[in-house]
Amino acid sequence: MYYPVVRPRRLRSGENMRRLVRENYLRVDDLIYPLFVMEGENTKKPVESMPGVYNLTIDQLLAEVELVQSLGIPGILLFGIPEYKDCTGSGAYAENGIIQKAVRAIKDKYPDLLVITDVCLCEYTDHGHCGLIRDGEVLNDATLELLARTAVSHARAGADMVAPSDMMDGRVQAIRQALDDEGFSNIPVMAYSVKYASAFYGPFREAAGSAPQFGDRKAYQMDPPNKREALREVEQDIAEGTDIIIVKPAMAYMDIIAAVRDNFDHPVAAYNVSGEYSMIKAAARMGWIDEQKTTLELLTGMKRAGADIIITYHALDAARWIK
Ligand code: PBG
Repeated sequence: MYYPVVRPRRLRSGENMRRLVRENYLRVDDLIYPLFVMEGENTKKPVESMPGVYNLTIDQLLAEVELVQSLGIPGILLFGIPEYKDCTGSGAYAENGIIQKAVRAIKDKYPDLLVITDVCLCEYTDHGHCGLIRDGEVLNDATLELLARTAVSHARAGADMVAPSDMMDGRVQAIRQALDDEGFSNIPVMAYSVKYASAFYGPFREAAGSAPQFGDRKAYQMDPPNKREALREVEQDIAEGTDIIIVKPAMAYMDIIAAVRDNFDHPVAAYNVSGEYSMIKAAARMGWIDEQKTTLELLTGMKRAGADIIITYHALDAARWIK
């Protein structure tokens, strides 16, 4: 049957009718808020290219976490900015590293909030790469041990989940094994299984001071045109024991989120990255788009594509808007 019997507009006639047939929702429950923590006291340093995002000392971080908690957001993803960097990224796995201290402080005050830690070396290495370097090459296997040590040190500090973002082969297995060996078999891994070598990470690298000092990340992060490769990465990480799969970035990779959703039953997280956030903020500042409407449309689009979880710098605003 066709028009005029069929008229799809009948079910769009008013807000209550649309509510009745709405297929997807963005919920506060879906959100994870990324936060940047640094050494020092009582400082909240704005990230130029990401309005509303700061480098926070631990005392200020706690104030921000209070806000996260009061908005009902289930969890945060923590990134550390160390005072010193070196060629092995030792600040990443130091007993008293910035993340380890921050996690202890948060868990002390907010034991129920999910504290997820980014596991990577690039914020801690003087060369800015995500692994050890020899002769200009990022070493895979030698890096695994340091990533595993980092994950274990986060778990020891009280992290609820670890999120490796380095894209070394075999890191999920190395981290899973190390966590199990150290008595953390109940700490899940949320792997950045599908992480592209994207131009949308620019503002993050300003925020975290983690831009590579030479070359780029193309020898370990994925090539943006590839899709089948994403499914192979996910298959591999599931075999190695990841509990949740991250696809990153989100906006230019909605088809990848959908494909991962269709092919696997693990929870999928979309990482709505820094450059995506900055674009919205910039256009909204210019008065060219409506920030609230465009943001909610994008985040809901990620849900429709198949994401269960959305990691986003818009989380505080989105939570307020949803309420
Ligand atoms: C570290 C890491 C990056 C991001 C998350 N973890 C940057 C990169 O790979 O260069 C990007 C997050 C964002 O852009 O919001 N490996």
